[in-house]
Amino acid sequence: MSEAKSDTLRAGLDFHTKQYVNKRFDWNAFPSNAGFPDLERAQMRFIGSGGSPKAGESDTLAPDHFTLSLVYKHPGKYAACHAHEIEEAFLVLQGVLTVGWEEKNHVVEVNLGPKDLILNAREIPHGFRNAGVEPVLMSIMVGVGKPLPPRYAYHPKEVGDELAQSFGALPGQVLPVSAKGDHPLQRFMALHVVRYDETPTHWTKAGFGRKIYVGEGGAPPSTARKEMFLIPPGTGVAPYTRDCEEAWLVIEGHITVGWEEDGKRVERQIGPRDVILSPAGRAHYFRNDELAPVTLFSAIGTPHPVDPDFQPYTPA
Ligand SMILES: [Fe+2]
Repeated sequence: MSEAKSDTLRAGLDFHTKQYVNKRFDWNAFPSNAGFPDLERAQMRFIGSGGSPKAGESDTLAPDHFTLSLVYKHPGKYAACHAHEIEEAFLVLQGVLTVGWEEKNHVVEVNLGPKDLILNAREIPHGFRNAGVEPVLMSIMVGVGKPLPPRYAYHPKEVGDELAQSFGALPGQVLPVSAKGDHPLQRFMALHVVRYDETPTHWTKAGFGRKIYVGEGGAPPSTARKEMFLIPPGTGVAPYTRDCEEAWLVIEGHITVGWEEDGKRVERQIGPRDVILSPAGRAHYFRNDELAPVTLFSAIGTPHPVDPDFQPYTPA
């Protein structure tokens, strides 16, 4: 590979890597929240606008099949119950997030901790709140279908504070999530909740583990597969390609990520809350050069990908 081509590969890798420390939170991402301090939240956009009308910014990567953003919520704040025509995943990074799903003034609620996920199914009215004592930081990934704005089911400006805060539940009509609950919504929500501690790890021959969050063995996918990678020190994966995009969000640790073209590699190390997006057809790899394990969240732009034959990392 010529030096110029290698420079192009380096520029591509750098362009597709977004670091948390260089991004900014936007406190005005959702115009429908203006004038309602209880709905206050901040958004950091990595891939696409994720439900905010602020699409097409220069520091935000263009989405292909899904968006990826972070949302921050102070204790005591909530998001009004709404629905949309696309699936939406919440992955908790910090704090305890309460999510409610509503049907005919009954609400099913679940509490999620760090590394837990809920896949909000299409058309199901859902809201969330931070009922804890520490901030909630979560990643939100929205399937890119028709980018219609959310439809509010119980916004405080229409139904008042009390009904909006309960996500539309009438008094006494809140149920816990349960795989064996009497209400069908309790069981339906349970299918869409993924808890890190209850999800088995499958070890690859490359030496890293995979927990399937969304996809076969996890929550039912409709637009994207999602997995958690557990990467011990000294392990990595050889470059592989997919026929759709793959995004990695660092949850814990510091990981070397790289791209390969015509036998030439370029790489860099990234840390917690950093994101790299590898477009379809781009050979990409990771390697843990550090002392501590790495936890990496992977989103893949198709519900049923053909898995690559994950081989252990070897130098070029
Ligand atoms: Fe939503």
